[in-house]
Amino acid sequence: MTDGDGSTGSTQSDGGRYPFVPYDFQRYPEPTMIERAEQFYEELNGRRSVRFFSDEPVSRRLIELAMMAGSTAPSGAHRQPWRFVAVDSAEIKARIREAAEAEERKNYGGGRFPEAWLEALAPLGTTWEKPYLEICPWIVVLFEEIHGYEDDGKIRKNYYVKESVGIAAGMFIAALNHMGLTTLTHTPSPMGFLTKLLGRPKNERPFILFPIGYPVEGCTVPELSRKSLDDIAIWNPEPTKEETP
Ligand SMILES: Cc1cc2nc3c(=O)[nH]c(=O)nc-3n(C[C@H](O)[C@H](O)[C@H](O)COP(=O)(O)O)c2cc1C
Repeated sequence: MTDGDGSTGSTQSDGGRYPFVPYDFQRYPEPTMIERAEQFYEELNGRRSVRFFSDEPVSRRLIELAMMAGSTAPSGAHRQPWRFVAVDSAEIKARIREAAEAEERKNYGGGRFPEAWLEALAPLGTTWEKPYLEICPWIVVLFEEIHGYEDDGKIRKNYYVKESVGIAAGMFIAALNHMGLTTLTHTPSPMGFLTKLLGRPKNERPFILFPIGYPVEGCTVPELSRKSLDDIAIWNPEPTKEETP
C-alpha cells in the first residue's frame, strides 16, 4: 500500500521497490497470552495419530479450511511449494490402499525394513495392512513441488522445499485437530505410486498421506508419553570449546 506519493513508509528495508502493507498485529496483555498459550498447548497435546477411523462423512468445507490453514505456512522465498490432493472417491481410496499395502508388505515381513526399524515400530502395532485407507472419508496427499515453471516453460527454482512443506503439514494437522477431526501422518514407503495414481506432474513428489475423519467408536491409540520440557529445551548454552592441539 502506498501513501499517494509512491513512498511506503520507513518500516521496510528495500527502499520502496516493492509494495509493503501495514501488519495487522494483535497484541494481548500478558495474562491473556499465557492463557491462550496454555489452551493451545493443551489442545495440541490432546492430538493423537489415529489408525481406526469411522466411515462417518466429513464435509468438504472442513477439508478446504484445513488446506487453507496449512497453506498459511511460511515458505522459502514465499514459493508455497505444496499441493494438497484430496480424495473421497471410494474407488480411488481402494486403489491407494491396494498400492500402499503392496509396498508395506515388502517392508513388514518382506525384508525391506531392517530389524531395528521393525522393533521401533512394534509398540505402535502397525502392520502392512491399511484398512483405514478405505474406511476414512477423506485422504489428503500432501505433495512437495520440487520446482515450478516460468511462463516460458523454464524451470523456476523453489527454496527449502522440505522445510516449507513440513511446516505446512504441521499446520494442516493442527488445523484438523483444532476443528475436531483426526488424522494419521502416514508415509507408506516408498510413496512414488501416488504421483501416477493421482495424476500429478513429475515436478511434484508425495510428502505425506493423511487419512482424515473421526475416530471409530472405542478407538484406541498406543500408550505413549512425550518428552518433558527439560528433555527438549536448552537455554543459553555455552559455545563448544576449541579443541586444544
Ligand atoms: C514423518 C512421519 C511419518 C510417519 N509415518 C507413519 C506411517 O507410515 N504409519 C503410521 O502408522 N504412523 C506413521 N507416523 C505416525 C507416528 O508413528 C506417530 O506420530 C508417533 O507414533 C507419535 O504418536 P502421536 O502422533 O499419536 O503423538 C508418522 C509420523 C511422522 C512424523
